[in-house]
Amino acid sequence: MYTKRLIRTIVSRMLASDVPSITSQSWSQLKANSTLQVNRFCSSVPKPQKDLVKVTFLLRDGQRQEVKAKVGDNLLDIIVENSVDIDGFGACEGTLACSTCHLIFKQEDYDKIPDKPTDEELDMLDLAFGLTETSRLGCQVIVTKDMDGLEISVPKGVSDARR
Ligand code: FES
Repeated sequence: MYTKRLIRTIVSRMLASDVPSITSQSWSQLKANSTLQVNRFCSSVPKPQKDLVKVTFLLRDGQRQEVKAKVGDNLLDIIVENSVDIDGFGACEGTLACSTCHLIFKQEDYDKIPDKPTDEELDMLDLAFGLTETSRLGCQVIVTKDMDGLEISVPKGVSDARR
């Protein structure tokens, strides 16, 4: 909508200045010129970025790894995108078939996850190593703005339900 308004403004300014009349032939040129000017204008404006929140993973070896997580992404994608080194994590690539993406949350953080686990996730969690009351599968947890500062523990062991 903003871009349409901008194009209209540019076109009307062009009409007022150096383009005396619109003919069917000049219209496509006019449109091309206005698009060019919009692109020039837009390139100097920072593109809206997806919101980012800070998430810290407490790894098996006791190390902490802090990452910037995009709101709307799931934790499996975030771990992959940020190259968080968790051996065997996400073996089924989020198809709810392995339970290797098992993560453990603090109670208050667990309560912030808007989507409750589905029956399929619960079935797979039952096969996870070191299951707790606040366990979730990372591929099923979508990051929200409320999760800024989240600290998530990676279980000491991993079991792949497919084996
Ligand atoms: S990646 Fe396999 S269940 Fe989540």
